[in-house]
Amino acid sequence: MTDTSATSRTYLLCPPEHYTVSYAINPWMDTSTPVDTTLAIGQWAKLCEALTDHGHTVYTVEPEAGLPDMVYAANGAFMVDGAVYGARFRYPQRQPEAAAYEKWFRAGGWRFVAPTETNEGEGDFAYVPGPGFILAGYGFRTDPRAHAEAGEALGRPVVSLKLVDDRFYHLDTALAVLDDETITYYPQAFSASSRKVLRQLFPGAVLADEADALAFGLNLVSDGRNVFLNAEARGMAAKVEARGYVPVPVDLSELKKGGGSVKCCISELRT
Ligand code: ARG
Repeated sequence: MTDTSATSRTYLLCPPEHYTVSYAINPWMDTSTPVDTTLAIGQWAKLCEALTDHGHTVYTVEPEAGLPDMVYAANGAFMVDGAVYGARFRYPQRQPEAAAYEKWFRAGGWRFVAPTETNEGEGDFAYVPGPGFILAGYGFRTDPRAHAEAGEALGRPVVSLKLVDDRFYHLDTALAVLDDETITYYPQAFSASSRKVLRQLFPGAVLADEADALAFGLNLVSDGRNVFLNAEARGMAAKVEARGYVPVPVDLSELKKGGGSVKCCISELRT
């Protein structure tokens, strides 16, 4: 049986004040779809509330005009053991976000390692506390060379996983860490070899299906017990509940138009 006890976490988020879909860099984004920024702000505020209601600490970074995707804080950096590996975005539209996040992390006084390789922070990096290793995605955004760079920066082993379905372009759209040892993932988002690696490392994983992934059900944040996930992902909520976790649905329909959900909006500060 899975040990589902919660530990209190510290998260960094960015209010979607300037959020809109003004360019398309993933298959979810359609510039002709109207975006309701006010609704997005309301949904995001409820996400913050859900986190603090469960005893977690939430910090925010100042959103910058002209950076509509800055709301997806997961992409801003990747932090383990109090050390921060900075982001370097693939697309020019998001590149200035790196400096905004760097400024925030440096002001916090943590050790900051500036990257030379393209990587999109926690979008493509996940930390598994039990074995103490990093799972890293590549194929669409993060350059596999960044995996080695992150391993060197953070002093943790890195397992590279290849993403093959462009709808699930970041690791955090296809895989999530539920507790110290347990993950959940959508196998078909990965290459056959990476699926083999995942089966070998995580025989007890919660397997998601295409409907779960399309509902952004894998784009979740777990504190070891409470699983914060997109309200649309009811199938995923049932799956984690069956394994002893407590699903906490949050409606982030407006943020989905940019190709993100709960996890994308949250960067975990592992201090
Ligand atoms: N529009 C953003 C992009 O395509 C969404 C980022 C979602 N973030 C995430 N961690 N998956 O870059």
